[in-house]
Amino acid sequence: MRLLCSHAEKKTSHLSLFFKVASVRCFVTTCRAVLLPRFGGPDLLDLRPDVSVPVLNPNEVLVRARAVSINPLDTRMRSGYGRSIFEPLLPLILGRDISGEVAAIGTSVRSLTVGQEVFGALHPTAVRGTYTDYAILSEDELSPKPASITHVEASAIPFAALTAWRALKSTARITEGQRLLVVGGGGAVGFAAIQLAVAAGCHVTTTCGSRSIERILAAGAEQAIDYTAEDVELAIKGKFDAVLDTIGVQETERIGINFLKQGGHYMTLQGETASYSDRYGMAIGLPAATAVLLKKQIQYRSSHGIEYSWTYMRADSEGLEEIRRLSEAGKLKIPVEKTFPITQVREAHDAKDKKKILGKVVLELD
Ligand SMILES: NC(=O)c1ccc[n+]([C@@H]2O[C@H](COP(=O)([O-])OP(=O)(O)OC[C@H]3O[C@@H](n4cnc5c(N)ncnc54)[C@H](OP(=O)(O)O)[C@@H]3O)[C@@H](O)[C@H]2O)c1
Repeated sequence: MRLLCSHAEKKTSHLSLFFKVASVRCFVTTCRAVLLPRFGGPDLLDLRPDVSVPVLNPNEVLVRARAVSINPLDTRMRSGYGRSIFEPLLPLILGRDISGEVAAIGTSVRSLTVGQEVFGALHPTAVRGTYTDYAILSEDELSPKPASITHVEASAIPFAALTAWRALKSTARITEGQRLLVVGGGGAVGFAAIQLAVAAGCHVTTTCGSRSIERILAAGAEQAIDYTAEDVELAIKGKFDAVLDTIGVQETERIGINFLKQGGHYMTLQGETASYSDRYGMAIGLPAATAVLLKKQIQYRSSHGIEYSWTYMRADSEGLEEIRRLSEAGKLKIPVEKTFPITQVREAHDAKDKKKILGKVVLELD
C-alpha cells in the first residue's frame, strides 16, 4: 500500500495525500471531480481540480477511477430528473459505473485489497458519483475487475447488468427453459438481459433497431425483431414467462402484457416514482406513485393474470459476482461506441443528448 501511495503521489502531484498510519490506510484529501452545481445542459458540468474527498466509512472503498461509463440516468439527472431528492444536495457528482484500482479501504473491508483492479456501480440515489479521480463505493458495490477486459470495457457493464439482474433474477426469478421477451434489446440494459438470460438457459426474443440485430443473434437470442421495419405484434411468436420492457411507453407495455403467459412477469424500467415526486414533491408524489403502481398491479392481475412491476437497479454483490464471472468468460459484454477523456465530459454529454452517439460512451481518467 505504501508503494501504491508513493506511486500515486508521483503520478498525481496535483493531489494532496495523507497517511493514516495507525489503521494502515492512505487517503486522498482532494482530487479532480466533475461537479454539477445546478440542473440543466452539458455546459454546467464543471471539472474542478480540488474537490474534497470524504473520509471512508468502515465498509467503504476508495477507488482510483480509470474509466466511468455514461448511463441515461446521468444525463437525465443532469437535466433535473430526481430533483425532489437531489436538489437539496447540490452540487452533485454524476456517474454510477466505474472501473479502476483500490486506493484505500475502510477498516471493515475484507474482500478487497489496496492495488487490486475492481469494477462496480453505485446505487441510483448516490450523491457523490464516479465522475472523479477518486470515487467511494461500498464493498458490496465492487468486485474484482475481469482480467480479460480493459477498464473501458469493464466500466460499461455493472449498472446496466445489475439492472437486468435485478429484474430477471430477483423479480421474475427466471429459470432454465423459460421464454423471455426483451423490449429494446439493443440498449445496454436490454443487451445485458439477453446475455444473462441466455447464460441461464432461457429462450430469448427481442425487439431492437436494425443495427443491433446481428450482435443480438450472435449473443444467443433466438429472434430479433426490427421495430423500425416490422410489425412487432405479427412477428412475435408464442407467449412468454417474463417481459423486460426497457422502453416502457404505452405501446410497448400493451404488447408486453398481451404476450405474457398466465402468471408471467411484466417489468418496466420506466417506473414513475421519481417523476411523480419531482412533479408533486416527495410527500404527495411518493404515495401517488405507489397508488398508481398498485392500481396497475391489481388491474393486470385481474384482466390478464400477470404480475406487473416497476424495476430499479440495486447493488447486489451476488449478482455482481455472477456478472464478473460471465464477463471474464466473454459471455457478457456491453459494446463501447466511443470514449472521451474526462476533460471532455461536456462534449460527451452533449453527444448523448443530441443522439449523435447511440451506443455506450465511456469517460477515461488518466
Ligand atoms: N429503472 C432503473 O433502475 C433503470 C436502470 C437503467 C436504465 N434505466 C432506463 O432504461 C432505459 C434503457 O437504458 P440503457 O442504459 O439500456 O439505455 P441505452 O443503452 O441508451 O439504450 C437505448 C436503446 O433503446 C433502443 N430503443 C429505442 N426505442 C426502441 C423501441 N421502440 N423498441 C425497441 N428498442 C428501442 C435503441 O436500440 P437500437 O439501437 O437497437 O435501436 C437504443 O439504443 C433508459 O430509459 C434508462 O433511463 C432504468
